[in-house]
Amino acid sequence: MKYTVVLPAAGSGKRMKADKNKLLLELFGKPIFIYTLEVFQRDPNCESIWLAVKEQEQPLIEELVEEYGITKVAGFAAGGAERQDSVRACLEMIPACDVVLVHDAARPFIEPAVISRLAEEAAASGAAIAGVRVKDTIKKAGSDIITETVERENLWIIQTPQAFDYALIKKAATAAFEAGYMGTDEAMLVERLGHPVKIIESNYENVKMTTPDDLIYGRAILESRVQEEQE
Ligand code: C5P
Repeated sequence: MKYTVVLPAAGSGKRMKADKNKLLLELFGKPIFIYTLEVFQRDPNCESIWLAVKEQEQPLIEELVEEYGITKVAGFAAGGAERQDSVRACLEMIPACDVVLVHDAARPFIEPAVISRLAEEAAASGAAIAGVRVKDTIKKAGSDIITETVERENLWIIQTPQAFDYALIKKAATAAFEAGYMGTDEAMLVERLGHPVKIIESNYENVKMTTPDDLIYGRAILESRVQEEQE
């Protein structure tokens, strides 16, 4: 299934304890967001890539996009204060299409097979998001005293990509904006319209580069993938 991808890339380096946008940090000499872009550049089903960036970072990002031969970038939107604002800015720019994928530029290890399943499911039912099953025991605590141990069986850790029918995500984003509603992912905007959202089982390697320890994990993933290719 063909799709258009929206990549919010206008975050900061705060939790990464970096003095710049964490996406510009390098893993083995290549900026994190370039790994993400390369996945979509290589996927024949990806028709175009739209990036939300900070205005002051756009020249550098454009330069890197060119240097690494990413030819599918069709446009840049101005990133907003929150991730949801950045995504909305991109959604306002993209031309009408069948399926839209929203993917954190900070998740460089997404697998093409997952993307493909998400796009197929979004075309069929309107909304599908990537997730993995919770591995640990989850407890709720008001302060440091536990109030509840949550049943693990039905819990998922939600990732991106999140794939949607174009008209549905546009409608959901506009409705959220008009209501002043902020969600922590795009699926929440669709859920509040009462539309069912399907989870597609992804893998644990699709981690978001957020804190410094994620970079250690990221390097290990890249090393193991290079090793696999050599075998
Ligand atoms: O901050 P967090 O790690 O949750 O960000 C997820 C993705 O959203 C990252 O790719 C980041 O660059 C992007 N983002 C954005 N605009 C913001 C905040 C985050 O595009 N205001």
